[in-house]
Amino acid sequence: MNATPMTLRYPVFLPDGRELLPAGTCLSRRLLKEISSRRGRKRDPARSLIRHGTVRRDLREMIRQGTYRAVFRDRDECSDLFRRMEQDRLPLPLLESLDYFHRKDPYTYRHTLMVFALSCLLDRRLGKFRAGIEENRAGPLHDVGKLCVPLDILRKSSPLRRTDRDVLEHHTLAGYTLLFHFLGEAGEPSANVARDHHERMDASGYPRGIRLRNRLAEVIAACDVYDALVSPRPYRKESYDNRTALEEITSMAEQGKIGWGIVRALVAHNRKDRPPPGLCKVSSEKRGTPPEGNLYGIIVEDRPAPPNTA
Ligand SMILES: [Fe+2]
Ligand SMILES: [Fe+2]
Repeated sequence: MNATPMTLRYPVFLPDGRELLPAGTCLSRRLLKEISSRRGRKRDPARSLIRHGTVRRDLREMIRQGTYRAVFRDRDECSDLFRRMEQDRLPLPLLESLDYFHRKDPYTYRHTLMVFALSCLLDRRLGKFRAGIEENRAGPLHDVGKLCVPLDILRKSSPLRRTDRDVLEHHTLAGYTLLFHFLGEAGEPSANVARDHHERMDASGYPRGIRLRNRLAEVIAACDVYDALVSPRPYRKESYDNRTALEEITSMAEQGKIGWGIVRALVAHNRKDRPPPGLCKVSSEKRGTPPEGNLYGIIVEDRPAPPNTA
C-alpha cells in the first residue's frame, strides 16, 4: 500500500445507510485489515453480475446505441465478451448497490456497466484476458463509492460548487473502504482501482495526487474517461462524437496523464481494419469539436460566509 496518508473527509456509509467509518478516519493498513476480517466471518453469497436483474438485457441495449454500436460491432467478439463477463461474480450487497443506481441514478448505472464491458473489451484487445476473476471486478466496482455521494450532486446539471466537487471526489476513498468491507483483503486489487482510477501518471489526479503506476487502474481510468465523453451526461446536452472523444484521450497521453499503450488499443479498436495495438500509429492532429455547453470541470467557488453583524 502506498504510504501517502489517506484521511476521510466525509463519512463512509454502507448501502443500508449505516455509517461504516466517520469523517476524519485515517485509512491505515491496520484499520483496513480489521474491516476486512470483521466481514470475513460472514461472507456474502456471490452471483454473476450479468445474470443479475436486467443487467444482460440493459447491456445488450447499451452497446447498440450511439458510438457503442461501432465499438461493439463484431458479433463473435461480443459473444466472447459476454461469455467472459458471465464469470464475474459479485457479493449480493454490491449487486444490490447496482440496483440502487439503476433506480436512482441511471447515468451511474449505465456508466458502471459500460466501463465493465469496455474494460473487458480492451483487455481482450491487449491480449490480457486473465484467468483469475478478481481483476475483472474492478470495472463494475470502480465507482461503487458514489453510494456515499448525495444524489443531487451526482445528478446535478449545473456547474458544481467547490464543496460539491470535494464530496464527489470522496467516492474514491469511500469505494476503497467499501470494497475492503465487502470483498476482504482478496478484493484489494479492485479496492485499489476504486481508489486510484482518478489518479494520473503525472500526479495531477485525486484523491492523493500520486503518480499512477497501476496498470489495471490505468485501463479503467481510460475506459472511465471515454465512456464519460461518449455517453449522455446531466451536465451537457450532447455527448462527444467518437473522433473528438478519442482525440481527448490522445491529448491525455500527450500530456503524460495516461499511457500510450491503452490509448493505442482504444484507437486501434476504433479503426476500420483494427490493427494490433502495437502497430497502431496515433495521429496528433485534432479535428474534432467538443459539444457546446459542456459544463464538465467548471467549478463555482463557494460564497464566503456573510460577516457576522450581530
Ligand atoms: Fe470515479
Ligand atoms: Fe467512473
